[in-house]
Amino acid sequence: MKNVDYLVIGSGIAGLSFALKAAQHGKVLIVTKANEDESNTKYAQGGVAVVVDKVGDSFEKHISDTLIAGDGLCHKDIVEIVVKEGPDRINEIIKYGTQFDKDSGGFYDLGREGGHSENRVLHYKDVTGFEIERALLHEIHQNPNIEILTHYFVVDLITQHHLGQHVTRHSSDIRCFGAYAFDTKTGKVEKFLSKITLLAAGGAGHIYSSTTNPTIATGDGVAMAYRAKAKVRNMEFIQFHPTALYNPGEYPSFLISEAVRGFGGVLKRANGEEFMYEYDERGSLAPRDIVARAIDNEMKKSGHDFVYLDIRHRKKEDILNHFPNIYAKCLSIGLDMTKDMIPVTPACHYMCGGVMVDEHGQSSLEGLYACGEVTSTGLHGANRLASNSLLEALVFAHRSYISSSSKLAGMTIPEGIPDWNDKDTQLSNEDILVTHNVREMQKMMSDYVGIVRSDFRLERAMRRLRLLYEETEDFYKKTKLSVKLCELRNLIQVAYIVIKSATERKESRGLHYTTDYPKHQSQLKDTVL
Ligand code: SIN
Repeated sequence: MKNVDYLVIGSGIAGLSFALKAAQHGKVLIVTKANEDESNTKYAQGGVAVVVDKVGDSFEKHISDTLIAGDGLCHKDIVEIVVKEGPDRINEIIKYGTQFDKDSGGFYDLGREGGHSENRVLHYKDVTGFEIERALLHEIHQNPNIEILTHYFVVDLITQHHLGQHVTRHSSDIRCFGAYAFDTKTGKVEKFLSKITLLAAGGAGHIYSSTTNPTIATGDGVAMAYRAKAKVRNMEFIQFHPTALYNPGEYPSFLISEAVRGFGGVLKRANGEEFMYEYDERGSLAPRDIVARAIDNEMKKSGHDFVYLDIRHRKKEDILNHFPNIYAKCLSIGLDMTKDMIPVTPACHYMCGGVMVDEHGQSSLEGLYACGEVTSTGLHGANRLASNSLLEALVFAHRSYISSSSKLAGMTIPEGIPDWNDKDTQLSNEDILVTHNVREMQKMMSDYVGIVRSDFRLERAMRRLRLLYEETEDFYKKTKLSVKLCELRNLIQVAYIVIKSATERKESRGLHYTTDYPKHQSQLKDTVL
């Protein structure tokens, strides 16, 4: 057992940047399910969208681009907060040692991505997230007030429910006192009590069979928050990245950054025809929901599993300089992107909804803050603007730190929180069934809850999910914990929330497109579960 001031669940940009600040006020414990740097942040290629060049760019333009991409559902006050506070937060991570590319004149080399009206994406080659993680972890290691435990899988948040009190989804005074976490090295579940818990557990790409997310992205944060009866919002908005590398058998999929299109890359049919202008006047740089749907349509028409991305017109030297990682990856499968078109296909990439938080990162449970991909702050609306997520994570980590630290002194942890009880459970010798159920669920989500949806498909998905849910809960109750089993349980939980939210939205908006309701409804509404 451990008893700390702040428990941070997750070690991406949100969790680490929060921890560095919170450590000024108390003991911080970071718990992460894999290696310390394994997170969606690490794989962010494109960069961080932020207004640094006030001559060509402006806060107003960044705000407007975000609102347009979000298709009417962004919360404007939150968009303004993130855009305007963004530059200060970026300067902090630069002070921590994060490097961003500069041009020969010493100015930041700002990239462009879909939906942006200006070049405003700070990047480090095509490995921006990796560089940010490096710099933040370096700082974390110097800080004596921060302990980091790797390969600990958080199973559940602790609330009054664990004290035997009756808690329902309508209770207004639920409090979070920390979490139970499974030490994957010893197989024991430990109790971590905390005055403040920060949920920064990232996304859920693996609810689909094709995703750009690392294998850890199994929706653990949303699932545990929902089980603890926290509110979740807008979970129907799952962003498919238009251009994952088409490389059958590779799992997860390798991302071909949108920055390649920002650098002039053009989407083409097999015969070399450009097609995006037939769908949107912004061509290959239209917002992601539009591009992913257009590619999906092209693939359905042609019967092919991919379209092409063509960057061959740019100088080899420039391509190598900007995209060394993507170039090397393509070359490793026999493609020279300076000479060959790159086969690409959409893949699940980002969860635009999540645990509902206010402008201070406070969830609907007292003592539980959340930031990063796991949340719904109101910034992304129905479709996230490219490269806005790292910025949102930094801004909300800071806001969560300010708000939670001001409450720290008044927070207490009740006596009598029990240890984890795994009596009457047994070791499983049928783990393969867990693997089968994960695959079945992912295929079902890809087939029926993908880029184009309908009531019929959603009903079909829910029926199939129910069976998987019942089997998994039954197995969970009888079996000693394993990471795979907990992940399956979380994936099913998140899939349920996505299908339920999608079923409630009787319109098409942003990333949620349904053939039964192809238009916007006039009334703007968040889906809150
Ligand atoms: C990309 O590099 O295309 C991904 C950036 C993002 O998802 O914001």
